[in-house]
Amino acid sequence: MTEDVVVHKGLEGIYVTESSLSYIDGLAGKVYVRGYDLTELAMKSSYEEVAYLLIYGKLPNKREYYNWVEAISKNYGIEEGMKKILREIPRWNSPLDVLKYSLLTIGLWDKEQNRLDKDALYDKIVNILGKTPTILAAWYRISNDLDIIEPRDDLNYAANFLYMVRGEHVEEDAKALDTDLILHIEHGMNASAFAGLVTISTLSDIYSAVTSAINTLKGPLHGGAAGAALKQFREIGSPENAEKYVEEKLSRKERIMGFGHRVYKTYDPRAKVLKEMLMKMDLKGEAKNLFEIALRVEEICMERLCKTKRICPNVDFYAGILYVHLGFPIEYGPAIFALSRIGGWIAHILEYLESPRLIRPRHKYVGPIGLKYVPLEERE
Ligand code: SDX
Repeated sequence: MTEDVVVHKGLEGIYVTESSLSYIDGLAGKVYVRGYDLTELAMKSSYEEVAYLLIYGKLPNKREYYNWVEAISKNYGIEEGMKKILREIPRWNSPLDVLKYSLLTIGLWDKEQNRLDKDALYDKIVNILGKTPTILAAWYRISNDLDIIEPRDDLNYAANFLYMVRGEHVEEDAKALDTDLILHIEHGMNASAFAGLVTISTLSDIYSAVTSAINTLKGPLHGGAAGAALKQFREIGSPENAEKYVEEKLSRKERIMGFGHRVYKTYDPRAKVLKEMLMKMDLKGEAKNLFEIALRVEEICMERLCKTKRICPNVDFYAGILYVHLGFPIEYGPAIFALSRIGGWIAHILEYLESPRLIRPRHKYVGPIGLKYVPLEERE
C-alpha cells in the first residue's frame, strides 16, 4: 500500500504536458512566447496580436489581424442583465472576485457554453476576450458610483479598457498598459494555467476552465503579489525605512512580495521592462513615492536575496506601481493581471484540448487501513 514512492509536493519539477506556448529560461532570465522574446513583443506588438500568436501559433497577417480585432471588439458589449448583476454585487468585493464571478456569468448567457468544437470555441474565445475588460471597467465605474462607459470600437484592448474606466483616451497610458498586458499574458505552467488544464481535462467547458484559472491566480503567492507588493511599499512609507523593514521581515522568515520565483533564479525579464518603463514615465504623487521605495527595496534585496539565494525581482514587483500611476486602487493589481492572463489561459486550454488526457495524479497514502467500525453508543 505505502509503496516506496517519491512525493513531489507542489508538483515541483514535474512536467505535466508538452506545450509550444512559451519557454522560460530561469537561469538566463529569458522568456519566449511561441519562439519570440516576450520582452521584444512587449515593446513592439499589441495585446491582441500576442493573444492571436499564442492561440493560433503565428503572428497574424493584416487580414487575420483586423478580422481578429474586429471579432473581439464586436464582443465588447455586455448584456443589460450582466450590468444589473454587477449593480447588485456588494461594493466591498475585490475586482478580482467580481471578475471571477462574472466569467462564469458570461457562460450563462451562452446557451452553447458546453460545446468544445473548434467553431464554437472561436466564438467563445472572442466573447471572453471582448467582455473581460468591459466587465472590469464596468465594475470600476459602478463601485465608484459612476455611470458605465460604453466601449469604443476604434480603440484596442488596452486603450479601450482605460477609456471605459476613465472616459478619456491618453495614448501614452494606453501604450504603457498594453506593454504590461503583453508582459503578463503567458508564463508557462504556472498554478493558474495548470488549474485551467485540470478543469478542461475532464471536458468541462471553457468558461469553467478560465474560472478555475482565475480563482487560482487570486492567491498572494501568485497573481495577488502585485497588490501585496504595493501594500508592502506603503507599509515601508519611505526609502529610508526600507532597510529596517526588510531586515525585520527576513528575520521573521517572512517573504518580500514581488521577489522570488519557482523558475527564475535571476531577475525576471518582465520586471526589467516594467522598471525601465516606469523610469521613463513622469510619475507623480503616490506612484512616484512608491517607485522610490521599490527601487530602494530592490537595491537592498538584490544583495540580501538575489545575489546570495537567487531570490530576485519578479513581474509583480513593479507592476502595481504602474497601476497606481494609471489611477487604479491597490486591489486592481490581480484583476489587471487576470485581464492579461486570460489570453494565456485560453491558449493553454485550447492546446490541451488538441490531445486531452484526464489529469488525475496519485497521492501517497499515509493513514491507517482496516479499522473496525464502533457504533456511536459504544464510543467514549
Ligand atoms: C507570479 O509561476 C509563475 O510563472 C508565476 C508568475 C506568472 O507569470 O504566472 O510568474 C507570476 O506568481 C510571480 C510570483 C509572485 N509571488 C510573490 O512575489 C510572492 C513572494 N514570492 C514567494 O512566495 C516565492 O518566491 C514563490 C512562491 C514565488 C516561489 O517560491 P518557491 O519556489 O515555492 O520557493 P519556496 O517557497 O520553497 O522558498 C524557498 C526558500 C525558502 O526559504 P527556506 O525555507 O529554504 O529557508 O526561499 C525563501 C523561502 O522562505 N523565499 C523567500 C522568498 N521567496 C522564497 N524569502 C524571502 N522573500 C521571498 N520573496
